Amino acid sequence: MKNLCPHCGTDLDIEKEVFANDKLFTGHNCQGYDNSEKQKIIRVLSVLRQNGGFDFEVLGMGMNTSGYPGAFTKIVQGIIRSVIYGKVLHLYSGTSLIGDERIDLEHPNATKNCRVEDFLKEDTRDWDWVLLDPPYAIQRANLKLGAYGEYGSLSGNTLWQAVMRRYCQRHIDNILWLDFCAPSIKGFGRKKLWLLLPGGFHTVRVLSWLKREMKPML
Ligand SMILES: C[S@@+](CC[C@H](N)C(=O)[O-])C[C@H]1O[C@@H](n2cnc3c(N)ncnc32)[C@H](O)[C@@H]1O
Repeated sequence: MKNLCPHCGTDLDIEKEVFANDKLFTGHNCQGYDNSEKQKIIRVLSVLRQNGGFDFEVLGMGMNTSGYPGAFTKIVQGIIRSVIYGKVLHLYSGTSLIGDERIDLEHPNATKNCRVEDFLKEDTRDWDWVLLDPPYAIQRANLKLGAYGEYGSLSGNTLWQAVMRRYCQRHIDNILWLDFCAPSIKGFGRKKLWLLLPGGFHTVRVLSWLKREMKPML
């Protein structure tokens, strides 16, 4: 099926084209777009080019009213549900019911209560997605994360990162990682980043979608 411009009917397949926010934008000189729309398109295209092709969105994170520290807000849940499909592994799953297999130290909503590090060393299945929301290094962690089984920082732990990296390279096609950094893993490219603004003076969170680019050479 041909891609035709909704305004002037030009065949877009023969023009340079880019997808942004699910709309097709092209360089062709169509009168159907008004000036503000053209300006927006130019900005989106230049941002996409500067960032080596990955998309990003900046939005308010919403409030966590669940009572469980770090639980996904409705906005974050909405983003996750809009992109994942197929077989989903959820690490550090806490209260969440997203995913076929959910691993958490002790939350009863998990399908397995164990340390993620131990699970990764044992599990040999392949997954379309891994979703993870590890505890971050935060100030006064003992106070804020007292409800968890453990409240150490994992995002800065190099040994643990190596286990995670190896597991992803062997078994995962797509990664959705919520953290206060934007991690990268060899063999995976950034597909999209959501910059989530929690308001007040709280740390900005980044939801990274990393997509496998290379077959594992393992
Ligand atoms: C930031 S919370 C995730 C909350 C989750 N996104 C939700 O919607 O409820 C981090 C979770 O990791 C769990 N956790 C901490 N260290 C862990 C470990 N070593 N292995 C497995 N789970 C761990 C905690 O119990 C907590 O539920």
